[in-house]
Amino acid sequence: MTGMICGTGSYVPDNILDNHDIAKLVETSDEWIRERTGVVKRHIIGNETTVSMAAEAGKRALEDAKVDAKDVDMILVSTISSDVILPCAACKVQKILGAERAVCFDLNAACSGFIFAYNTALAYLASGMCRTILVIGSESLSNLINWKDRGTCILFGDGAGAAVVKACEGKNYQIAAHSDGAKGEALTCPGGHVKGWQQMPEEDRYMKMDGRGVFQFAVKRVPEAIREVLEINRLKIADIDYFILHQANRRIVEAVAKRLGVEIEKFPMNLQEYGNTSSASIPILLDELRRSRVLQPGHRIVLAGFGAGLSWGADIIDWKI
Ligand code: ACO
Repeated sequence: MTGMICGTGSYVPDNILDNHDIAKLVETSDEWIRERTGVVKRHIIGNETTVSMAAEAGKRALEDAKVDAKDVDMILVSTISSDVILPCAACKVQKILGAERAVCFDLNAACSGFIFAYNTALAYLASGMCRTILVIGSESLSNLINWKDRGTCILFGDGAGAAVVKACEGKNYQIAAHSDGAKGEALTCPGGHVKGWQQMPEEDRYMKMDGRGVFQFAVKRVPEAIREVLEINRLKIADIDYFILHQANRRIVEAVAKRLGVEIEKFPMNLQEYGNTSSASIPILLDELRRSRVLQPGHRIVLAGFGAGLSWGADIIDWKI
């Protein structure tokens, strides 16, 4: 038994912040941001919240899969930017969708979050403990950003993506998933969760990043994970139609393609429109590729995520819808 994605959905706020808007907040320029990151604009929450975006993306995925919310066995929300610590975002999504039977919990693996949540769903499906799981990545990163730090505020955006994964007969691909807590200081956000945070200087509460360190980590570890997942499943790079990477930075995606010796056309990107939406980036891109019919039944794709933790991983999926 394995899992099959049978529907996708996404939601991004209407409110747009482009590079020119950011250049009014910090010393930067449209040209610098485009050249170093590929990002042109990002969508930022207005009245939305992480939960409301997750619920809308989840609803759209259920509609796409033609699955009734009452038939969902589990809701998994991957997020680092939930509205509140308790209750978890997944339980709030359950209430909005009316998915009464579902077991619900959140998962935090930063920008690897959707990959790790999808892997968790696969494990529940393979064991027979669940038949239908709604996996969601939803982020309001604008709440975690220090809008005075030009090293980070240019990169991130808000949004949500979701996939309905159902149990089915089929090939059970092995996964590649890794963490390295020893390098965790490269990307941190204490938020209001630590003792004495009220006394912390404001800038220390928000996301902090060693940009160059994260860049070097990503361009090394992502190709390694992709090679690993291909090797353990006895596949070759030529067997893959598309490589769908976490949308952090155009230069990272280009460097991964180059290291693998694969043409860049096989690495779809939408980061120019949304920036880095952490655990929402892969499911938003999947949904766009599905709805634009770029992804077709019979395609074999690789998903690869990387981010804080540090954490990284890759999956192979036989696309069937
Ligand atoms: N505008 C203008 N100048 C800037 C900006 C900015 N927004 N940010 C930094 N600079 C300056 C620096 O001050 C520095 O100036 P100096 O040479 O006078 O000291 C110069 O530009 C170069 O700075 P670097 O930090 O070396 O610039 P780099 O080319 O590394 O680009 C960036 C920075 C875009 C952050 C890059 O390191 C990057 O993309 N890293 C990966 C970040 C990432 O993807 N993180 C998320 C992944 S994990 C997750 O998704 C949670």
